[in-house]
Amino acid sequence: MIDPHVHLRDWKEKEKETLAHGLAVALSCGIDEVFDMPNTQPTLTERNTVLKRLKDAEQCGIGVHYHLYAGLTSSPEQIGAMVSLVQELFPRVVGLKMFASHSTGNMGLVQEKEQALVYRTLSDCGYEGVVALHCEKESLLHPELYNTTDFSSHSLARPVCAEVKSVSDQLRIAQEEGFKGHLHFCHLSSIEALHEIEKARSQGVRVSCAVTPHHALLSSDDAKDRSLYAKMNPPLRSETERSALFAALLGGRIDWIESDHAPHTLHDKEAGASGIPGFSGILLLVKELLEQGATAPLLQKLLGRRVQEVFHLPCREIFIPAYDDLESLSTKSADEYPWDSYRNLRLR
Ligand code: DOR
Ligand code: ZN
Repeated sequence: MIDPHVHLRDWKEKEKETLAHGLAVALSCGIDEVFDMPNTQPTLTERNTVLKRLKDAEQCGIGVHYHLYAGLTSSPEQIGAMVSLVQELFPRVVGLKMFASHSTGNMGLVQEKEQALVYRTLSDCGYEGVVALHCEKESLLHPELYNTTDFSSHSLARPVCAEVKSVSDQLRIAQEEGFKGHLHFCHLSSIEALHEIEKARSQGVRVSCAVTPHHALLSSDDAKDRSLYAKMNPPLRSETERSALFAALLGGRIDWIESDHAPHTLHDKEAGASGIPGFSGILLLVKELLEQGATAPLLQKLLGRRVQEVFHLPCREIFIPAYDDLESLSTKSADEYPWDSYRNLRLR
């Protein structure tokens, strides 16, 4: 399987996880290809850091096909340099990532002016590859509604409307600036955001979107159990949103599943960090999809085939663990981390 959205930490965040550990746990779950995200410490926003990351991942010798997204800033020179890096090192550098809001790290390009500059610069460079987007419109966030004792309030502080507006903004601004590449919308948490993407797709725009296991399996009710530390960006939503996203996966309306694997220490979680370990969730989601009637071709598409198509990767076989092994492999990989946001789900 391919997991095209992971945060493998290491470097100044070794205490959260090392590259070798993340890659080994992924492989133990049957994930043999990953795309790493650039909000590392230091960030993957310049050539030498990207080269060092590729070398470090290779030296782990774990046998997982490793790719990364280079990060975008609001500097035209930097953007041009990242475009050259994709051209030079593709598919190891598989595309570009823009945080259209702040999340973990400090990579948010939150002003429309900055976002327009990114798309304009990419157009001027003739970039036709993938830009992956984290969409939550900063001006619609309400941090004052967050209650530190109740993680379900995170969904009030970072509401659905912020995601939907950010998605529609990106579609509009990219078009206004003549962007010729492919927009990938990461980790949708709402069906309303999917509607925006489907509208654009029907008009011929090159777009894709993904759903995480946590947004398809858990709801903000689960976030109420503080010991699950089920806090992430974008947040868990209502049961209505969750079931609609799960149905969209089953109905073939989502391009792929991505874990958004984002481990932290318990100390950092207590201090409010967003993100949860993700590999075990992929296996639970496969299990649930199979139980709800997902066909083998649909699972193949969701767990790698469509990623291969969009990124023009070699059409390697997608191996999905046998149904009978999913639960135990999932539990075993969850045990590798300090908490398990799926603990109650396993008991249901
Ligand atoms: O919850 C999240 N955690 N969302 C992100 O966008 C980043 C991630 C992380 O790196 O911790
Ligand atoms: Zn992420």
